[in-house]
Amino acid sequence: MKWFVPGPVPVNDSVLEGMQKPMISHRSPDFRATFLDCTQKLEQVFKAPDAAQAYCITGSGTLANEAAVANLVPETKTLCLVNGEFGERLYQACRIYNPEGTQALHIQDGKGINAERAAKAIEEQKPDWVCMVQNETATGVTNDVKGVASVAKKNGARILVDAVSSLGGMELDCKGWGIDACTSASQKSLAAPPGLGFVMVSSEAMQEIESKKRIPTYGLDLKRYKKFYERNETPYTPSLPTFYGLQNALQELFEEGLDARIQLHEDAARMAREAVEATGFENFAEQGFQSATITAFLTDQAKEIKNALAKQGIQIAGGQGVWKEKMLRIAHIGPQECRSMAHCTEALMRVMHPTELVTAQ
Ligand SMILES: Cc1ncc(COP(=O)(O)O)c(C=O)c1O
Repeated sequence: MKWFVPGPVPVNDSVLEGMQKPMISHRSPDFRATFLDCTQKLEQVFKAPDAAQAYCITGSGTLANEAAVANLVPETKTLCLVNGEFGERLYQACRIYNPEGTQALHIQDGKGINAERAAKAIEEQKPDWVCMVQNETATGVTNDVKGVASVAKKNGARILVDAVSSLGGMELDCKGWGIDACTSASQKSLAAPPGLGFVMVSSEAMQEIESKKRIPTYGLDLKRYKKFYERNETPYTPSLPTFYGLQNALQELFEEGLDARIQLHEDAARMAREAVEATGFENFAEQGFQSATITAFLTDQAKEIKNALAKQGIQIAGGQGVWKEKMLRIAHIGPQECRSMAHCTEALMRVMHPTELVTAQ
């Protein structure tokens, strides 16, 4: 079976080999070397601002988001920009840690969020924090984080970005765009195993955390992550196999080059979009906001097409939330999915031949 799902994505052999290394103490020089290598490389992939730190949290992207929210959002006015399932989850996390101070601006699923669409709410509400998802995995929409960040800055707000399904697969420049905090996870474009979430925090955002009266979490308190980061360790037992897998995955990414990796995702995205259009569907994402890592389209034959593709050894993803039975998503996340995109597009062309689909039902 070839997988074209939005993570965990297939990983290369060197990543699998890395995961087989013996388990050692996470307070040992060997682990510290792996930690340092991973965090230094991650900060480069985030294009982190000077003196920012990227914390590795054992868990998934959701936990990374929760860590960011639990530390940054309490005692603030927060505005969440929502245009899909993952934006909604970020909003719900903010509501848990700051029920009174959190507002949301909902924008229709499929439409992108940009400076123009976010400006009015930011100007009127004057939030301390703006939270948004860069790549809305549920609908294949990439939001214009750069544009929104510039409006946020002009209005004195900081910005938290969920880059779970974008980091390493599309342009993201935390320093250049003025992003104060950014999250991601190991199992998507970085093509490492699942098990680590990342939270990049600027030094100014960390100062804000340090000045808060109370951080309402113990295990996700980023002040403890910072303290241990400074000795190249995590505060609690990390997933060692994931760290080793990540180290090798990042090594491959650096050998290939970040720009080349982004180009690989763009090329695969173009193939997926062309195949979707050639088979008579419409990209769900608005023109200008179409994702480099996910292509989504609506169909009333979602189940039949997915089954027919599976019979051909191709696994794509269905819809999520309100789009569950009505949408199909082709993921082109990570080098393996991107490099084998032709298998997926050719199979889609075959199954959309009317007789094929009828036989598969
Ligand atoms: C944009 C985005 N945010 C958050 C998450 C949650 O990540 P996880 O499933 O690793 O908890 C996902 C997962 O697909 C995602 O795509």
